[in-house]
Amino acid sequence: MIKFSRRKLLAASTALPLAACGRVDAPQQFNSGQSEETSTFAHGVASGDMTANSAIIWTRVSGKTAEAGAVVQWEISTNEDFDAPAASGAAIAYSENDWTVKVDVKDLKPGCLYYYRFKSDETLSQAGRLKTLPETATNTVRFAVVSCTNWEAGFFNVYDHIARDDSFDAVLHLGDYFYEYGHGGWGGSAGKAIGRAHEPATELLSLADYRTRHAQYRTDPNLQAMTAAHALLPIWDDHETANDSWTGGAQNHNEGEGSWADRKAAALRAYYEWMPVRNTTGNLEDMYKSYSFGDLLTLVTVETRLSARAEPINIDNYTKDMNGPEDAEKFRTDVLYAPDRLMMDAAQTNFIVDEFSKSKAAGQPWRLMGNQVVLGRLQTADLTPHVKEENILAMEKDWPAVRDFVKNSAYGLPIYPDSWDGYPWAREQFYGRLKAAGLTDIVVVTGDAHEFWVNDLTDDGGTKIGVELGTTSVTSPTLYSYFGDDTPDYSMLVTQSNPDVRYYNAMHNGYIDLTFTRNKANAKLVKVDTVLERAYGAGAAAEFTIRPSGDSVKFTSPKGLTMLQRALFSGLG
Ligand SMILES: [Fe+2]
Repeated sequence: MIKFSRRKLLAASTALPLAACGRVDAPQQFNSGQSEETSTFAHGVASGDMTANSAIIWTRVSGKTAEAGAVVQWEISTNEDFDAPAASGAAIAYSENDWTVKVDVKDLKPGCLYYYRFKSDETLSQAGRLKTLPETATNTVRFAVVSCTNWEAGFFNVYDHIARDDSFDAVLHLGDYFYEYGHGGWGGSAGKAIGRAHEPATELLSLADYRTRHAQYRTDPNLQAMTAAHALLPIWDDHETANDSWTGGAQNHNEGEGSWADRKAAALRAYYEWMPVRNTTGNLEDMYKSYSFGDLLTLVTVETRLSARAEPINIDNYTKDMNGPEDAEKFRTDVLYAPDRLMMDAAQTNFIVDEFSKSKAAGQPWRLMGNQVVLGRLQTADLTPHVKEENILAMEKDWPAVRDFVKNSAYGLPIYPDSWDGYPWAREQFYGRLKAAGLTDIVVVTGDAHEFWVNDLTDDGGTKIGVELGTTSVTSPTLYSYFGDDTPDYSMLVTQSNPDVRYYNAMHNGYIDLTFTRNKANAKLVKVDTVLERAYGAGAAAEFTIRPSGDSVKFTSPKGLTMLQRALFSGLG
């Protein structure tokens, strides 16, 4: 592993042909200010939501109070010296938008690298980079795929690692961009020792709370470096509102916390203020989008939390009276598979099928779905023959629910009922729509679970729909914090018990470095060796290739696997 210390400055460079990227009738050159000072732009810069000809650029000004707002000039250029201007203008930051500025820059050229920055009074922001979407022949698209970033759980070393590599086309953030817990909440036990305490110290409920949390996360130097280096394509998962959220509430929305509608509205308002994303419909819950990368790939990002999701099933309510496989089967049939338990509404499903159908018709080789929660089928492995009473007693001190966890593992029920496994009717409907449209070759990237997953995707009849890559967390605790050195054994048992699971690694924090070329895609599962210090090492935990195969796609060429992992990957386990 190579050791890195904290990144200090964004070192931007490019090998792209810049001359082709400027606007033909470039506007007047932006008048640069005198000295660079970061206090006015204490939260850095970000960009995202690119099309071939436009992009959102974002910043926030600090220290302003005037009711009339603060004028913020912006400029975008095809080189880092800002002497090849492509566009410029002025926007006003208002208190009612929490002093954030979001500009939808138009008339850009497709497939080009741009640099942008802001100026308020005489202070310049740091410079950011973004790439517009290509429109024509495209040989490579490369994403950094991340999720689950808890301030109190550690330093954002993963973001630092991504910021250091200039060749990503975008960062795909699959949600849990922050956590709503107060100081010392779930996953935050490390916070005290490393000096990272959530602000505000209490759980987020109001607009002021959500804004304060966004502001705190955006002070992180590694987050700032990453969003300056690359455009961000984010979706939210549950923690941007509250744990295990659905249309009518959340596991972490309780009595005395006001109405769910008010809390959700506050969370979404702050989200759109602080994230470089557009809303084009007026309904803030419409957070599904499509991005076309030339003749190579269409990325669709989905919303499965707030717009249609039915109430999750609390499996614990059923397992306590479960005394054998018949009880488990009855639960599966009567409760789990109950019809009309939605994850997405018809409009979103139609959108996904339409966008992927257009991609297929245009001859693009790849269709990629950015997705919140695990789509593949993950059932518990029977742990009862392996975990003895003395093991349970040893773990019970730190994990009170371990006894039930082991007992219930025998029933082969969903590992994560909050994922698509808790909505199998909705998953079959979705797969049915994809199959009917001839879309059985999708690649899905997923966050949420805090562990790496490499899964085949099949419907209940065994038809393959595509493949799934689950990325682990940036900082949130992995299963290693529960199982310790027994984690690999647990992973093997789960892999062996699930024919669709090809590889499962719950040991590390990290991200997926995912590169698409015309004939193959390469997924490097990158691990970091610590999030508890700013100095860290990073390297590949494993690597896989995805290749088109008839009407489908398949994983090949695993690298970095143990003998047993390799056997399980090949289906010989
Ligand atoms: Fe998470």
